Amino acid sequence: VLFLTLISVRLTGTKSGCGGGGCGACTVMVSRYQPATKTIVHYSANACLLPVCQLYGAAITTVEGIGSSKTRIHPVQERIAKAHGSQCGFCTPGMVMSMYALLRNKPKPTMDDITQALGGNLCRCTGYRPIVDGCRTFCQVRVSLCCFIIQPLKIHFLQPNLQEKPRLFDQEKFLPLDPTQELIFPPELIAANPQILTFHGERMTWVSPTSLEELVQFRAKNSKAPLVMGNTNIGPDIKFKGILHPLIISPMRVKELFEVSEGADGVWVGAGSSLSELQSLLEKMVPQLPEEKTELFRALIQQLRNLGSLQIRNVASLGGNIVSAYPNSDLNPVLAAGNCKVKVISTGGSREVPLNQDFFVGFGKTILKPEDVVVSVFIPFTRKGEYVRALRQAPRKEVSFATVTTGMRVLFSEGSRVVQEVSLYFGGMGPTTINATKTCKAITGRLWDEETLNQAYDALLEELDLPPSAPGGKVEFRRSLTLSLLFKFNLEVLQKLKELPEKLQPLPKEIQPSLQDFQVSTRPSVIHITNTWQYFHNASPLLQHVPKDQDSQDPVGRPMMHRSAISQATGEAVYCDDIPKTDGELFMVLVTSSRAHAKITSLDVSEALKLPGVVDVITANDVPGKKARPMFGYEQELLAENQVFCVGQTVCAVLADTKTHAKRGAAAVKITYEDLPDPIFTIEDAIEKSSYYEPRRMFARGDVTEAFKTCDRVYEGQIRLGGQEHFYMEPQSMLVVPVGEEKEFKVYISTQWPTLIQVHTVAETLDIQSNRVTCHVKRLGGAFGGKVIVTSVLASITSVAAWKTNRAVRCVLERGEDMLITGGRHPVLGKYKVGFMNDGRIMAVDYYYYANAGCFVDESVLISEKILLHLDNVYNIPNMRGHSAACRTNLPSNTAFRGFGVPQGLLVVENMVNDVAMALGRPVREVNMYKGPSATHYKFEFSPENLHRCWELCKLKSDYSARRQAVDQFNQQNRWRKKGIALIPIKVSVGVCQAGALVHIYKDGSVLVTHGGTEMGQGIHTKMQQVASRELHIPTSKIFLSETSTGTVPNTCPSAASFGTDANGMAVKEACEILYRRLEPIRLKDPKGSWESWIKEAHLQKISLSATGFFRGEDLYYDWEKMEGHPYSYFTFGVCCSEVELDCLTGDYRTLRTDIVMDIGRSINPSVDIGQIEGAFTQGLGLYTLEELKYSPTGILYSRGPSQYKIPGVCDVPLKFNVYLLPDSYNPHAIYSSKGIGEPTLFLGSSVFFAIKDAVTAARSDSGLSGPFFLDTPATPERACLACASPFIKKVDKPGSFKPWALDI
Ligand SMILES: Cc1cc2nc3c(=O)[nH]c(=O)nc-3n(C[C@H](O)[C@H](O)[C@H](O)COP(=O)(O)OP(=O)(O)OC[C@H]3O[C@@H](n4cnc5c(N)ncnc54)[C@H](O)[C@@H]3O)c2cc1C
Ligand code: FES
Ligand code: FES
Repeated sequence: VLFLTLISVRLTGTKSGCGGGGCGACTVMVSRYQPATKTIVHYSANACLLPVCQLYGAAITTVEGIGSSKTRIHPVQERIAKAHGSQCGFCTPGMVMSMYALLRNKPKPTMDDITQALGGNLCRCTGYRPIVDGCRTFCQVRVSLCCFIIQPLKIHFLQPNLQEKPRLFDQEKFLPLDPTQELIFPPELIAANPQILTFHGERMTWVSPTSLEELVQFRAKNSKAPLVMGNTNIGPDIKFKGILHPLIISPMRVKELFEVSEGADGVWVGAGSSLSELQSLLEKMVPQLPEEKTELFRALIQQLRNLGSLQIRNVASLGGNIVSAYPNSDLNPVLAAGNCKVKVISTGGSREVPLNQDFFVGFGKTILKPEDVVVSVFIPFTRKGEYVRALRQAPRKEVSFATVTTGMRVLFSEGSRVVQEVSLYFGGMGPTTINATKTCKAITGRLWDEETLNQAYDALLEELDLPPSAPGGKVEFRRSLTLSLLFKFNLEVLQKLKELPEKLQPLPKEIQPSLQDFQVSTRPSVIHITNTWQYFHNASPLLQHVPKDQDSQDPVGRPMMHRSAISQATGEAVYCDDIPKTDGELFMVLVTSSRAHAKITSLDVSEALKLPGVVDVITANDVPGKKARPMFGYEQELLAENQVFCVGQTVCAVLADTKTHAKRGAAAVKITYEDLPDPIFTIEDAIEKSSYYEPRRMFARGDVTEAFKTCDRVYEGQIRLGGQEHFYMEPQSMLVVPVGEEKEFKVYISTQWPTLIQVHTVAETLDIQSNRVTCHVKRLGGAFGGKVIVTSVLASITSVAAWKTNRAVRCVLERGEDMLITGGRHPVLGKYKVGFMNDGRIMAVDYYYYANAGCFVDESVLISEKILLHLDNVYNIPNMRGHSAACRTNLPSNTAFRGFGVPQGLLVVENMVNDVAMALGRPVREVNMYKGPSATHYKFEFSPENLHRCWELCKLKSDYSARRQAVDQFNQQNRWRKKGIALIPIKVSVGVCQAGALVHIYKDGSVLVTHGGTEMGQGIHTKMQQVASRELHIPTSKIFLSETSTGTVPNTCPSAASFGTDANGMAVKEACEILYRRLEPIRLKDPKGSWESWIKEAHLQKISLSATGFFRGEDLYYDWEKMEGHPYSYFTFGVCCSEVELDCLTGDYRTLRTDIVMDIGRSINPSVDIGQIEGAFTQGLGLYTLEELKYSPTGILYSRGPSQYKIPGVCDVPLKFNVYLLPDSYNPHAIYSSKGIGEPTLFLGSSVFFAIKDAVTAARSDSGLSGPFFLDTPATPERACLACASPFIKKVDKPGSFKPWALDI
């Protein structure tokens, strides 16, 4: 594919985040000459799926091609960077190229264009708001819609008399976009080549005929060879399923496949047309035709807008989608319902085949013969009285295969409500597209009324049955969706029927509000909640002011762009895998266990060693030093020797000259196993079998048992929190290079903790001294806690490979491997018994927390301890008891993840408080909060004043009281759509560790700063540059940070737990202070001298211009026996208000608005900190509402890429998103009075969960249900919809006992 070619020619700006078209990191622009129209078309595409052979005659533009820091950066690169849209930067080149391709086609795009263009690009760091803000500056039209107006970012101040009016970025200074300056299409590519093209690879041949006749002949002779168009089906099959096609035929140059002809009854569209071309064609035709003729066209447009990403639609073909016959294809149900047909040609001649229930015969199969070529597709006009709709429900609003997708059509006898014809096609309800024929029969010939529809629901339920263990799971939900989607169709048809001259019965009262919503929706997509950014209101961060007397050159407290943002936006930023290949370098691929708990009975690597390019296989026997890593009294084997404990555990590793060869070698390794009985996967299994890591912890304050006796009411509840995959955009990456003498090694690695890699990983594994190992970290493409322990195990194995072969060894995991091998956030089951008074005071709580730790202890015990230390959140509950246990299971080992247990612990606490409020029917948060001078349950004294200030300010800024009332009113007026609002507070602890720094001043006055923190997007290097600038009194332009290295700053702490800036900042400060003091005599002697002149003089006077800084940190401890201590330095407070709108029929929701007020002391860099707040919130939103890990009953992870695992996309950002920094907050414990911010706000994402729960509560009330209820996280559409308990849900039988397709771990 193109991606590999780019790497081989050292164009490393294009990144690979998934390899399967799901993340957009590899986006490039393709330009082609179209002979028919004599125009050049430009479109974005995923390089990971573009076959190079398919690009004959095309020009490719990569991020390097549009601008460079050496010459001129492109306005897109500049604006995304300067708007703070690049944190770790791994997604940035893809974002830039998506936007660039849009601007090449439309220099003045609308916000809708922008969100469509960025829909296929994932970012795990920013929360998207700043990226969109940067891109929005290209929209020149002021769009006014409702009360929200797109306009340049505005800042509001709460404080008077400000000296400066800071803005996050200065739009006026941006480079203008000048389309005349763009690269031209190479003229030599315009000439047509009439020859058949043939390309030969190592194992494949690619043929590209030029005419339909040649194509048909090739196809007849090679009927097993696929026709590759967009490669979006064949490509992932080759890559992920290992399917080999010795011959591939490309019909890209056969003009008949791209022709369009309009007839009296409809339009014939070439099967080779891309889905984007199809969409544009239909969008062009719709306004030119009478409305009644375009029902099918509009349904297709609606479906196309939600199908895949723009990058996918730009290459995926219409014919490819039909022939691929996916079970949940979005087009096929609509095409079939709309009576479309295909024109097929083979050596036997051409024929027309209707697209109906007979066409789709099974999973990926149609009735077409292997030699058939689909030439075109007929899409008919609709007739008078004919209505067509396409409805779908998907796990994420955009870029997600549907859970259930439909095409529905009804034709009424003229002027009546009698059904003449009806088609109801469903995807996602079986192995292929299904027609509900029996249901259609029950409707045909009858009046379209309530009675008919009620019978139709029953028929549909019976007809579209699914066994309880059906692949894909969600059986109850999917079955109910068929009913609710038909109901929605019914609503739309009733609405249409109203327009007929015949007098209709008034609509049933309860559905009217829903209908009104259908009418106003501008994008009547899945949820009928408009998700365009036209509604997106500018964030209005309350920026702190800097003191009046602060030097204008002093950058501390001012927003400053991430120091590498421009390099990241131009693709120049170097990540671990961008380091050029060294001579003789080997690539390492891991061979992992396919069993969850088994003895290894044999390991046969002989076949692997015979394969071309394979050099060696590393097993446990090759480890010269420690074979296992000791952790908290347990041991974790680096390579499994005799037994495996989870699917995905590493058994051995294959080394080869290339990645492709290493992968083939790994596939050839044969391992035999003897399964061991009773593997444990779920928390319930572990509790039943008492499978825990010790110590389990217990905490108690007051007398819980006695207190329960005096409470007015006692309630028992629980909540389960699913795990979370880190999904850092840059997968685990490392390169170990033996220097070649004296056992010295250089390790280039993407890790949060270089010292761990140096000392406890490479040195211990190789049994050498730590002084022989230097670990270098330039930057990480995201980490979030996932690049500490797991990375160290991988680095151990890589170092053994380098040791054994004496050659450089690179290991870069693919997304699927990364997700399989590395664990993530611990799933937690929290149970509680709470006693409370009728006035809302909570008097006693007894908590039980169980965390699914997986097969190794990792940091699980520490995480379960941290859960207990956050048992109070912001509430002063006099009697509390907490028990926490890390459960040992046969799943990949879970590990640290942003928040380190706090997001799980606090969710249980807040759910408990929520339940109390629900039981009492009144809010209870405020009455239970800490007030006045307070002490936590572990006797840590603090003032909750800033918590209350955040609470009040958030209520004020979000207009909470009025909106609460508006939400209640909305809910009374609407039956199928509900709103919910929630206000959630946090108190999160930060402990500050030791840190070191080394600062050099060179003879020319330039300064090199190194410190122990690693740059992973959180902007630590930028903040350190600001610190050094203030202390040395020089501009940041003179200060450089190159990398983090154990050779410059030894014995560092990990960059984790939000204390990176606190600790390293103090160390940098100290080193700079020392240097500045050393310069004092020179400065005093020559006060008017320049910095450069002072440095020159200092060098002449032999003054050392290098200094180290060190920060001790506080002595933090906690005594679990005495239940007291000082485990943290201070608290970060915050409050968040979120409002959602929920479609109770499908469970889809949209976050309408979020307001966050954070107390982060005095921010060193507000733009970086706001980025952290928004990014963490969005990650929390994903955790609590979207991201779902799916394990098979045998412990195999199904969700191994962005296709199956949905992190938030640009479509998930709150439509209105405000972040406010609490003014007048000071913190004596951290540098310049700032506070750690990386982790705390993640929990605020739960405000969306609680808002959903609030909306569900309203829906349940309409179904006659009240009081607390269980809703686990993530509150996916499935969970939310089932919890709404609508009449459709009630119709679906609950299955008895059965083996589920996926486990609730
Ligand atoms: C990330 C991602 C997200 C996606 N999301 C969605 C989604 O939300 N909804 C949805 O419906 N689909 C989705 N898809 C699927 C995508 O729409 C299909 O893969 C695509 O339409 C197939 O077209 P293609 O040109 O890429 O096919 P190719 O991969 O090139 O070919 C697929 C198959 O079709 C056959 N074929 C192609 N053209 C012809 C022809 N003219 N005559 C006969 N046989 C032919 C080939 O022989 C081959 O077997 C997604 C795919 C990806 C990768
Ligand atoms: S790497 Fe190509 S889309 Fe993810
Ligand atoms: S900045 Fe987008 S993934 Fe890191």
